[in-house]
Amino acid sequence: MVERKYIVTLAYGALSEAELESYFTLSNLNFKVVGKVGRCCILKGENLSSDFWLGLGGLHKVAEVFAEVKEDEVHKLNLDELIASAKDKMKWAVSTYSESEASALKFSEDLQGCIKEALKSKGVVKTKLLRGKIHKVDSGWEYEVSSQLIQGERVVEEGFEAVAVKLKDWLIGKSIAVVDHIGYRERDLGRPVQDPTITMPPKLARILVNLTACSKGETLLDPFCGLGTILGEAIIRGLDIVGVDAKSSRVEGARKNLTWLLKKYGIRSKVELFQGYAENLSRILKGRLVDGVATEPILLPPLKHPPTDEEAKRMLERSSRIYCRSLPSISKHLKPKGRLAIVLPCVKTKSRRILSFDISREASKAGLRLYSMDSVKKYPLLVGDPSQMVMRGVYIFEKVGG
Ligand SMILES: C[S@@+](CC[C@H](N)C(=O)[O-])C[C@H]1O[C@@H](n2cnc3c(N)ncnc32)[C@H](O)[C@@H]1O
Repeated sequence: MVERKYIVTLAYGALSEAELESYFTLSNLNFKVVGKVGRCCILKGENLSSDFWLGLGGLHKVAEVFAEVKEDEVHKLNLDELIASAKDKMKWAVSTYSESEASALKFSEDLQGCIKEALKSKGVVKTKLLRGKIHKVDSGWEYEVSSQLIQGERVVEEGFEAVAVKLKDWLIGKSIAVVDHIGYRERDLGRPVQDPTITMPPKLARILVNLTACSKGETLLDPFCGLGTILGEAIIRGLDIVGVDAKSSRVEGARKNLTWLLKKYGIRSKVELFQGYAENLSRILKGRLVDGVATEPILLPPLKHPPTDEEAKRMLERSSRIYCRSLPSISKHLKPKGRLAIVLPCVKTKSRRILSFDISREASKAGLRLYSMDSVKKYPLLVGDPSQMVMRGVYIFEKVGG
């Protein structure tokens, strides 16, 4: 097996790492994280296509490493592979990631200079360099051309992007995949029935589906399906789906959205939707077991002011009831070793604490245990920007037995 290194820019931090681990395990692929800088993760594994990477919801871009150089030896780089198909009018870009602002900036300038020279000696002089922006993300600095711009300008297909990350030396890669922002946006804002007060972004829905580690042809259940965002991402991954919601208007909305998706992508998955209650799934599923469950029972409304700890606790206590009531029924219909990826509301209070509630006792009573993964240091895996007062916390459980 030929080993490759990949530079992967993650969009959701620890949650994206958990998704990666699930996704690789599901595909029976070995991979190792050999370094991290800010939100960049360097992976070592076998040769993987861009389509493989596009199955993930939690990344921005992926570059395949083709060289490693010391800081002051950028002029020694062989850029033949990077510029192999360069032609006039093409757009190209450079993004660099380092622990220091100065080195991210300097290396981007040095690398751009070398690429310009190489293009010139190839006789390609009328190209357009897309400019990036320098910013601090997590513990690292990035001089980055955004993945939105890379996708919008068709840089991977018609030009190239060089991505460099500083570990001990600089690793240089060529971008091979960027997340399909356009597709995700279309599925969010182009679907027939929309309601941003209850739905989640399709990228997050894709992550939850991947966290269940269900494979093609298996069945995923969302017992609080709303307008079917999670179910939509599941059918795109080739899964069959069962959706349940207490409100018949939501079930009808989900039906319209999923019918639209099936047609749009020419998908042949089996879709079953029911009005019903997550606490009483037996009425719908009888004795049937599903392979995985992904769901968000409660999405708290955005808050105008940060609540006190007491106010947040009251709000969360009300929300916790539906979780505790539905876990036994969800677990009953999950196959042994099947996974449940579930979102809990988290609230940031006036005192800057992030509060949520604990469902591990109820989960354990229902035969579910927290799923342990190398990449998950602690639960919940938080989603949301630190300025938000309402955030999401993701947990992954596994059904005991089997
Ligand atoms: C936060 S929304 C889920 C949204 C969904 N993830 C999406 O993106 O479309 C929660 C849904 O749970 C439904 N619900 C509330 N209580 C329920 C229950 N006991 N059983 C089933 N569904 C319930 C609500 O009607 C609502 O549509």
